[in-house]
Amino acid sequence: MNIIQQFIAACLMAFVGIAAAQEAAPVNVGDKLPPNVRTLLIQEMQAVLTASQTILEGIVKGQHELVAEKAEGIHNSFILKQKMTPEDRKALMAAVPSAFVQQDRAFHKLSADLAVAARAEDQAQERALFGQMVEACIVCHSRYAGGRFSGLKNSE
Ligand code: HEC
Repeated sequence: MNIIQQFIAACLMAFVGIAAAQEAAPVNVGDKLPPNVRTLLIQEMQAVLTASQTILEGIVKGQHELVAEKAEGIHNSFILKQKMTPEDRKALMAAVPSAFVQQDRAFHKLSADLAVAARAEDQAQERALFGQMVEACIVCHSRYAGGRFSGLKNSE
């Protein structure tokens, strides 16, 4: 390799290094949102936490109706549907990676499935779906709520 080739190779390696570092850096999508949209996201999260706590109680006590009701509540709290003006929605879509939107959709789909399982009083399915929901909280928080929950390790 002549000196120019070496220089180009070094630049490429530095560039790849920077790209990798950016990839690994914690991202908090909340920081990228307009303040009113961030408030909606945080309100949704607090409602989701309260509903999830009640769902846990419903599952362990066999209160299927309660589980169905709270799971539907989570489904309906869908940030992409609720309380958002078309402008808010545009701002959200512009600010967050599409993978975040997909994870949010997948999470809300799980809550809809949980409501169906609870209406059918399918105890095993309720437990499995709730487990997947908890997993979804952790995956999304470790990827997209960077800095907020420093105890979370990256999970797949
Ligand atoms: C698709 C991504 C995603 C999913 C799924 C998700 N969250 Fe979150 N959550 C976030 C983000 C992003 C934040 C940080 C928001 C911010 O700081 O602006 C957050 C913040 C929170 C907060 C802190 C809110 C506050 O008071 O500031 C709670 C509590 C929370 N989530 C609960 C949950 C629970 C419980 C689940 C699962 C049942 C869940 N979240 C699923 C993305 C997600």
